[in-house]
Amino acid sequence: MSLNSINLVEEIERLKRELDVTVVAHFYQKDEVFQLADITGDSLELAKKTVSSDSEFVVFCGVGFMGESVKVLNPEKRVIMPKMACCSMAQMIDGNYYDKSIEILQKSGVAKENIMPITYINSSAEVKAKVGEMGGMVCTSSNAEMIITNALDSGKKILFVPDRCLGQNIANKMGLKSSIVNILDDRADEVHQEADVICYDGFCSVHQLFSTDDIDFYREKYPDILVAVHPECDPAIVEKSDFTGSTSQLIKYIKDLPEDQKVVVGTEFNMVNRLREKNTYVLSSTKPECPTMNETTLEDLYRTLKSIEDGEPFYEVELDSTVQQNAKLALERMLAL
Ligand code: 13P
Ligand code: SF4
Repeated sequence: MSLNSINLVEEIERLKRELDVTVVAHFYQKDEVFQLADITGDSLELAKKTVSSDSEFVVFCGVGFMGESVKVLNPEKRVIMPKMACCSMAQMIDGNYYDKSIEILQKSGVAKENIMPITYINSSAEVKAKVGEMGGMVCTSSNAEMIITNALDSGKKILFVPDRCLGQNIANKMGLKSSIVNILDDRADEVHQEADVICYDGFCSVHQLFSTDDIDFYREKYPDILVAVHPECDPAIVEKSDFTGSTSQLIKYIKDLPEDQKVVVGTEFNMVNRLREKNTYVLSSTKPECPTMNETTLEDLYRTLKSIEDGEPFYEVELDSTVQQNAKLALERMLAL
């Protein structure tokens, strides 16, 4: 049967019924893929809910670090990605860049024993493993403040990787001093000795699209409008906003607003577009789609399920066992809190 002659949605539904599989989708997925998922949520919810699902196969419609997190937490599960889509932020740091950051801090007068690393979940299993090995943990956009508060109890400085914006936004909210470590500039810098939270200089290419000019534009046009943004936005944007939260927290905030309340949202297009029919705007003159989240199509989902039915699943997540064990330490420390 050629792909043109089948009804993709019907076939996907049949395969889901017949296979021992759970289909998972992040909020940034295309609508047609998102609608067919068994589990949806923000990064933290997806990791928790998927690990406790009892099917043998997980088909993860999202980006690489999300599928990897499920595999790290439950190596018995077979995690299949319809596309090996990589989050651009997670790509900005690997094990070598992590080591290099530690070296720069040591050169700047911060002893390794005095560093408590925290990695945003948007990072590879390799980086999570480095963090786990050093006694640190993972955080997500929905629990970063709680995780940083807890980590500071160690009396150490936080090295926050890879998202500078999330790290600085939480530091600003908590009244902490922050600094930025950039591996392209490896000079010693005493500023790190003063900082509570040292942020790696990574960022999200999608959330960089929003600007304070966009906020000014909407506030001028609709004086009563509310501004809600994701904490991956630059601190200057977060400072000018009425609400900042993870994807799930943004959804709840916006759904609880009175129907006639206008709101402009600074996060990925697919999610904002399906939130409310009226009075909801996207905080950008461009269309802020996450290119890699958008890679997964209905056809990819079908082909992936079909490959499981045919006994030859493709794009299966596989991890080195040491990486898996050390990354698990970092993820489980977060979940324990
Ligand atoms: P959430 O954890 O808020 O879903 O964010 C994931 C993400 O990649 C946002 O860009
Ligand atoms: Fe990564 Fe940004 Fe896409 Fe989120 S929106 S998955 S941080 S590139």
